[in-house]
Amino acid sequence: MTGPVLAVDQGTSGTKALVVCPERGVLGSGFAAVRPRALPGGLAEADPAELYDSVVEAGRRALAEAREPVAALGLANQGETVLAWDPATGRPLTEALVWHDRRAAELCAELAPHDAELRELTGLPVDPYFAAPKMAWIRRNLTREGVVTTSDAWLVHRLTGAYVTDAATAGRTQLLDLDRAAWSPRALDLHGLSGERLPEVVDNAGPVGTTTAFGPELPVTGLAVDQQAALLAQHITGPGGVKCTYGTGAFLLAHTGATPRRGDSGLVSCVAWRLAEDTAYCLDGQVYTAASAVSWLTGLGVLGGAADLDPVGATVPDSGGVAFVPALAGLAAPWWRGDLRGSLTGLGLDTTAGHLVRALCEGIAAQVAELADAAARDLGTPLDALRVDGGLTRSALLMQTQADLLQRPVEVSALPDATALGAGALARLGAEPGLTVADALPDWQPAAVHEPRIGADEAAERRAAFRREVAALLDRTPA
Ligand code: G3P
Repeated sequence: MTGPVLAVDQGTSGTKALVVCPERGVLGSGFAAVRPRALPGGLAEADPAELYDSVVEAGRRALAEAREPVAALGLANQGETVLAWDPATGRPLTEALVWHDRRAAELCAELAPHDAELRELTGLPVDPYFAAPKMAWIRRNLTREGVVTTSDAWLVHRLTGAYVTDAATAGRTQLLDLDRAAWSPRALDLHGLSGERLPEVVDNAGPVGTTTAFGPELPVTGLAVDQQAALLAQHITGPGGVKCTYGTGAFLLAHTGATPRRGDSGLVSCVAWRLAEDTAYCLDGQVYTAASAVSWLTGLGVLGGAADLDPVGATVPDSGGVAFVPALAGLAAPWWRGDLRGSLTGLGLDTTAGHLVRALCEGIAAQVAELADAAARDLGTPLDALRVDGGLTRSALLMQTQADLLQRPVEVSALPDATALGAGALARLGAEPGLTVADALPDWQPAAVHEPRIGADEAAERRAAFRREVAALLDRTPA
């Protein structure tokens, strides 16, 4: 069986790398921060060179710690972050527009008459969150040179020279025909991107090239969009399972099987992965600001960092009437109002940092609970439990709040870095044809299970209070 692999998760706020194998677990890890810039008007940019350098730096750190050779590389990416670049030299021609950047909003307004058609075709509503509107914006406003792609295609090209994107990442563009998992000429036409030279859509596991960026030549055999990689790592490989990853944002995915399910609860329908030409699908709901809202409170001096959530939250028994809708980059599913900004209400002279922390946890957990309910409605089956991963799962306060509001057990991944584990599993699958998904993954065992500690009536009242806050926000900001 393949030895350890290098698994890299290139995320919004940093790159995490693991040297991992199913038998012996994590042998080495590395992290390199990236610093996307939040600009006025809901804009967000990252320096492409910083993204690439962070991949190399984090990967090298993990390898140095592991002190073992690895057989292959798996790379997970942010999904909807885009840039233009020169395919001859690999040189970026623009900054990377980060997934939650809103600058394509006007362009999306022009496309609104085609929303239903694009939803049916691609599984995604017209929204600047997805890659294609931002790609089209770059073409209209910045450059017609080179190629314009999601960040993965550029990173893989820098690493290997190949010009590819995986089926799941392609599914985040709004250019992929969801049923065929192939580029859609009609969607390209609607976005004004018909003449573009797009990367080849490849399976999530399989050799795409080799890289020497980390030392000796290493085959790249696993590619994924980050949320789907976490879904795989949580062993959710059949219809009905649901996970949420609490990273920069929080993203809830529900596996829907071998055919796409176009729900009507506001979730998006997309490719989970394509392995040996077999495509699996999922529903996806998004909370745009989770750890980034914690960073925002940290920047204000309310917290020293995410590790303070629990001690500061423990100073008070509840949010003291403070309500926080942490829509700091707008609201996604099921509201699709990326133009909204957050609200903080119920403040008094007696409000403390503890109240703000509890209100933030409540706001994130209430949004995730809305998404979980939407997924259960679309799946037609109630949720048994929610599997969770990501850095913020280290907060027992947030996870307990989640279990309370959801009224379901919350099962915490033993390793928060599930995304990297999923990328590693794909790398193993790609390096060793014939390996099963189960063989490629470490055993799944939750590190903790949070059971609801409040009754259904109190949960319903707290969730209704959150919905009233969202409704007030929507009233104040007509579309
Ligand atoms: O859709 C964007 C999302 O996948 C980014 O994930 O972990 O950087 O918050 P993360």
